[in-house]
Amino acid sequence: MSNETNTIGLLVGSRRKNSFNRQLASLARTMLEEKGQKVEMIDWLDVPFFSQDDEFPTPEAVKKVRDEVMGCSVIWIFTPQYNGQIPGAEKNLLDWLSRGLEPGAGREQTAAYGRKVMITSAGGRAAGAGVIRNMTLLCKAMGMDVIGSAGLALSPESWGSDDVMKTPGVKEMLEGQIDTLLG
Ligand SMILES: Cc1cc2nc3c(=O)[nH]c(=O)nc-3n(C[C@H](O)[C@H](O)[C@H](O)COP(=O)(O)O)c2cc1C
Repeated sequence: MSNETNTIGLLVGSRRKNSFNRQLASLARTMLEEKGQKVEMIDWLDVPFFSQDDEFPTPEAVKKVRDEVMGCSVIWIFTPQYNGQIPGAEKNLLDWLSRGLEPGAGREQTAAYGRKVMITSAGGRAAGAGVIRNMTLLCKAMGMDVIGSAGLALSPESWGSDDVMKTPGVKEMLEGQIDTLLG
């Protein structure tokens, strides 16, 4: 269900406080705000484990994150790669977002359906290729419109310092994605 706004929602798929992917999202936020864009950090860490038994009444934390998503025209996902896959907690959130807003709702009556999505991953030498592939397939299966993706292979200096900025090309990568987003 799409609501027309110009807000860009940033969704970090890591629960780690100093997450490299969170650092990328923070930088993207600053860069977007410098261009006068409205940005929302999507807050999902309270979302419970999905069960079809718990869908209705919808848990408050799920309602809140769905409202945040529906208030955005684009969702920009910053995802870690776990064994080539989407981390479990993040996949759980996406399962909630893929489900009907009301009992008996059709495939299109979800928070995710029809919404644009951009994907970024920071990780090891493969630059998140596995998770980007899987996230693209998942988002398409949820009826989302994948507008682009990019992966960052973190440098040894970043791994050693927990600082994403010690990898060359970070700003340039995000700048390219922002051009696509705003284009
Ligand atoms: C369960 C697990 C599996 C991982 N698998 C991969 C992997 O397949 N490829 C990779 O590049 N890094 C892998 N890593 C390392 C992550 O890239 C690293 O932990 C990174 O810090 C996660 O992103 P974050 O900093 O945004 O939380 C894995 C880490 C964990 C905890």
